[in-house]
Amino acid sequence: MSNDGVNKGRRRLLIGATSAVGAVGAVGAAVPFVASWNPSAKAKTAGAPVKADVSKLEIGQQMIVKWRGKPVWIVRRGPEALANLAKISDRLADPKSTVPQQPAYIPGTPARSLREDIAVMVGICTHLGCSPTYRPELGPEDLGADWVGGFYCPCHGSRFDLSGRVLKGVPAPTNLVIPPHYYESENVIIIGVDQETA
Ligand code: FES
Repeated sequence: MSNDGVNKGRRRLLIGATSAVGAVGAVGAAVPFVASWNPSAKAKTAGAPVKADVSKLEIGQQMIVKWRGKPVWIVRRGPEALANLAKISDRLADPKSTVPQQPAYIPGTPARSLREDIAVMVGICTHLGCSPTYRPELGPEDLGADWVGGFYCPCHGSRFDLSGRVLKGVPAPTNLVIPPHYYESENVIIIGVDQETA
């Protein structure tokens, strides 16, 4: 009897220890990039704007902040990626971003952003709402030699470039959404509000 009690107790302890390790592992995996936002739980629930500091975001890196429960991607593009964006217009469904999937102050240029090197977009596929995967590499085997970096949706194969513009011939009908945002300073973005209404 007493032995049984001890064993149960030990088992509980072991399970507890395993869960704790699991939890630490999960936190590590969930924040693979620069973690630079920390709105309070209350603010997040209310859908308040969130702040993102991109000063440590290196070329090719992606960081993800959460706004209104959605992932917002921030990607820093280098000169090569920007040059490639300008070359693929004929492969895009809406290269000049004429469908209003972004605030009016976002230019319809290939960079599709306020600061040319920094892309900001909601990371939700405009087909059925999966979250596409960041694939910045050039010509990977699974995406083809003409892939110049972008986002691939694993659910039904939609493809977007590094500005969130959708390629032709995929299920997603429009470019990815760009949330309202502005730069509070050179490297600090406020996401979720326009400058005029801030
Ligand atoms: S949800 Fe992305 S392709 Fe269908």
